[in-house]
Amino acid sequence: MADTITPLELYREINEGRVSEILDVRNKDEFDAAKVEANRPVPTRNIPVYTVMEELEDQAAATKDGAVTICGQGNGSALVSEEFAELGKETRSLEGGTDAWNRLLVPFEIAGLPGEVRVWQFQRPAKACLSYVVGVPGQNCVIVDPTRDPQPYLEMAKEHEMTVTHVVDTHVHADHISGGPQLAQELGAEYHLPPEDAGGVVPFPNVPLKDGDVLDLGSAEVRVMSMHLPGHTPGTIALLVSDKVLLVGDTVFVRGLGRPDLTGQAEELAQDLFRSVHDRLEPLDKDTIVAPAHWSSPEEVGPDGLVVTTIEDVFKATLLNEKAMDKFVAEIVSSLPNAPDFYDTIRQVNAGQVTPPEDEIDVLDVGKNQCVASTSLA
Ligand SMILES: [Fe+2]
Repeated sequence: MADTITPLELYREINEGRVSEILDVRNKDEFDAAKVEANRPVPTRNIPVYTVMEELEDQAAATKDGAVTICGQGNGSALVSEEFAELGKETRSLEGGTDAWNRLLVPFEIAGLPGEVRVWQFQRPAKACLSYVVGVPGQNCVIVDPTRDPQPYLEMAKEHEMTVTHVVDTHVHADHISGGPQLAQELGAEYHLPPEDAGGVVPFPNVPLKDGDVLDLGSAEVRVMSMHLPGHTPGTIALLVSDKVLLVGDTVFVRGLGRPDLTGQAEELAQDLFRSVHDRLEPLDKDTIVAPAHWSSPEEVGPDGLVVTTIEDVFKATLLNEKAMDKFVAEIVSSLPNAPDFYDTIRQVNAGQVTPPEDEIDVLDVGKNQCVASTSLA
């Protein structure tokens, strides 16, 4: 039996600088589509398993002690680690491979909220996606922007004796498959998706949130209010929790802004984004914690492990410091990288317009998000 490492252990060890090397033995196209990365760089080599097995002694000699071997499901990498161990090279194989890594969700609590409300940020390293559970222990909770693997949210709800009464997608995502409609249906919770993003009625139960709607989490003191912030998409809804934490979707990030082009109206939505941030975000308390739906670089991760910023900082660290709308729009539109072709398909799946088989959905749900329009300004 090869020594193994779980996805959670690997995430932590990479972030603590304790992984000497990753040897990824998948095929090159799989490796190119999605690498295993966390918040610190790790030297990574991609050598397909058949090459490693053909050149075992040389490959073992070229591999650092303490390296982690990785494949798709954890079988090929376990074989490599076993063979290496026989040659005296100690490595560990990633349990469940990249399939398991792709599902990993790591919770971090956003502390310091007033009253009974608690907020947890769930980081999905494989896609650099962030989802949230907001709830009142012993009462109700809402799950925001869930992935397809809801178990970690449900465990958190159970641990704090919370009933999931609402599931929210802040917008129709283009970068990952939402677990929202199915999760809400299974739990009997209300599902909320902006119809503007879906292009009309969706084929699953949906109770759209309007600007100013308040979610009832079972405590009169706790106010979770929706804010309509068009920009990244026409319908984006943010949630303001107890006037202290803003779950902002892809409107702004710690070091960037949500790209406005994924629904095909880049200039118009860039103008909407400008109005949303100046008319709606700027008046908020400058210490309001801004909790986005993605991160894209390790600099966005704080010392406490959280990916959050504040209203004050987001206006300093991003293109939001440009006060002229025409310059802002020109800058953001000219900074847009090409979006992957399959983003349109993901949007259609999330809006219920197409339903590909599960294995095709698995493939669509691989690889880091590309939702950021611009990084910080120099
Ligand atoms: Fe998005």
